[in-house]
Amino acid sequence: MKLIKLTKGMERYYRSLAQVRELDIIPEKMNIFLSNPANIAYMVVDGDDVVGFTWGYVQQRIDNEDMLYIHSVDVVETHRNQGVGTMMIQAFLDVAKENNFRNTFLITDEDNVEANKLYSKFTNEIEREKVLYIFK
Ligand SMILES: CC(C)(COP(=O)(O)OP(=O)(O)OC[C@H]1O[C@@H](n2cnc3c(N)ncnc32)[C@H](O)[C@@H]1OP(=O)(O)O)[C@@H](O)C(=O)NCCC(=O)NCCS
Repeated sequence: MKLIKLTKGMERYYRSLAQVRELDIIPEKMNIFLSNPANIAYMVVDGDDVVGFTWGYVQQRIDNEDMLYIHSVDVVETHRNQGVGTMMIQAFLDVAKENNFRNTFLITDEDNVEANKLYSKFTNEIEREKVLYIFK
């Protein structure tokens, strides 16, 4: 299996990416997203099949403490528990290290056992007391 950083113009993969996460990917929007260097996406392929997809963004700050946010991480059912998620998280952490970011963070559900196992491989720092407000 191979980790690939997504770049603008990789349209041939967009349909398969949508299957990993059931996303309605609009190619034009995807190309705009990938044109912005603050937006980061990786996929893992097994031969011609996309089996993992993750994306997130650099959160620029007004001080010198930029952070990296991972928005979603998905692996197709047939390829779970084989290290695909680990490869994708590691890719984000490498970006953070290379750029001296303050930290990398994501939000997951407390009862998502597999996700919590995956993320706990990389850190013990968990904010359990925070409250998430959503404005619409
Ligand atoms: C969460 C998810 C991304 C994990 O991806 P993955 O490729 O299966 O993860 P990995 O194979 O790298 O496994 C990482 C660790 O999780 C644990 N793990 C993963 N799946 C497991 C399973 N089914 N049973 C037991 N442990 C499991 C293992 O301990 C593994 O550690 P190890 O490398 O020391 O063995 C995947 O299960 C998934 O896509 N779930 C549905 C979408 C989702 O919930 N995404 C996260 C939302 S925030």
